[in-house]
Amino acid sequence: MNSEAPLRVLIVFGTRPEAIKMAPLVKQLEDAPDIDCSVAVTAQHREMLDQVLDLFHIKPEYDLNIMLPNQTLYEITTRALTGLKDILEQEKPDIVLVHGDTTTTFVAGLAAFYRQIKVGHIEAGLRTGNRYSPYPEEMNRKLTGAIAEFHFAPTGTAKANLLREGVDPENILVTGNTVIDALLATVTDEFVFGDNILDNIDYNRRKVLVVTTHRRENIGDPLRNVYRALRSVVENYPEVEIVFPVHKNPKVREVVNAVLGGVPRVHLIDPLDYAPFVNLMNKSYLVLTDSGGLQEEAPSLGKPVLVLRDTTERPEAVEAGTVRMVGTDEAAIYKQCKLLLENYEEYNRMAGAVNPYGDGRASGRIVSGLKYYFGLNGRKPEEFSV
Ligand code: UD1
Ligand code: UDP
Repeated sequence: MNSEAPLRVLIVFGTRPEAIKMAPLVKQLEDAPDIDCSVAVTAQHREMLDQVLDLFHIKPEYDLNIMLPNQTLYEITTRALTGLKDILEQEKPDIVLVHGDTTTTFVAGLAAFYRQIKVGHIEAGLRTGNRYSPYPEEMNRKLTGAIAEFHFAPTGTAKANLLREGVDPENILVTGNTVIDALLATVTDEFVFGDNILDNIDYNRRKVLVVTTHRRENIGDPLRNVYRALRSVVENYPEVEIVFPVHKNPKVREVVNAVLGGVPRVHLIDPLDYAPFVNLMNKSYLVLTDSGGLQEEAPSLGKPVLVLRDTTERPEAVEAGTVRMVGTDEAAIYKQCKLLLENYEEYNRMAGAVNPYGDGRASGRIVSGLKYYFGLNGRKPEEFSV
């Protein structure tokens, strides 16, 4: 690299959570005078991605628009790989930055590798140890890790996972998770939704359960069991109100509507924009989810989380006591909801705010880390620690 020329960074992402978590980094890279930053989206998600791009005023230089209804992993992989080939040829970046564990993430890493372009992996090192759970994310992040040159790990646990796999410690930087950067910039106690359903709920007198589900391995009977448990909870506890922004995946929507459609005090709504969504969590009583990102956000807001999965790659908040794994068994989910609705000691034990995932300064550390790795900064930045 010519030391006079700016560092050319290409950021690639495709889905809602990648966009939310990359947005604070895009902003910081755009502001850095010695960095020339471009954004390419595969648009593996369309509407749910656009919601985030609009909110954070990100205008991608490239948009592959690959999403298909009910898309298969093969379709995402091949359409993204072919599209990225031309973008990389035109852009010739010094480094491609990818985030997390989606199929866009892995494919963008692979596309860069095929051109012998360095890859930086943001949110590196998360592992469950089970290649089929979550599926295909566990394999996506391992493959991305194998390709990446630089690993921006959110926590010390993630760094330890990478070290166990033989990654050179010099190429790992613990940064905290950029999701906390985005969250802290967005949550405010005075938030008004501007939406009839959400503004009319009395969050002090009702117990609002926020629910999201989308994991591929949960589609079908596991999700049906989850929704049946929720129906029993709302039927047995008149103070409970459920707000469920339903993922756009038709396979999720079909089962949600069949089990929870028309049930009183269950609000099935479209995916919310990020700002109303995190502010809804901030006003809620309890979060039930199979999402990865929510397991990081809710603990920071002091909200207990019941995780509708059998494995997690985010053990930190489980260890801190804010997050509990409940899986997808109907009786187990009902039992845990009952406990947290009836037993205030138990509830309060889980509801203490903890921040194992970040301090709001992850993006800054990543920018400094990039400069260090490319010789624009003399010293490796200090790592995030809890
Ligand atoms: C994807 C990621 C998953 C991530 C999740 C975040 C893969 C294989 N999966 O899962 O890791 O946790 O995003 O939400 O990378 N759809 C729309 N509009 C949208 C988005 C989706 O209509 O804006 C529908 C489409 O029919 C699409 C389907 O949802 O085919 C599934 O989308 P897909 O990206 O394949 O899977 P997700 O479950 O969203
Ligand atoms: N989110 C959102 N609107 C919603 C539901 C979730 O903006 O209606 C945000 C949420 O705050 C988090 C991210 O989307 O930052 C999580 O995305 P998702 O659960 O789809 O993916 P995962 O984190 O499991 O990869």
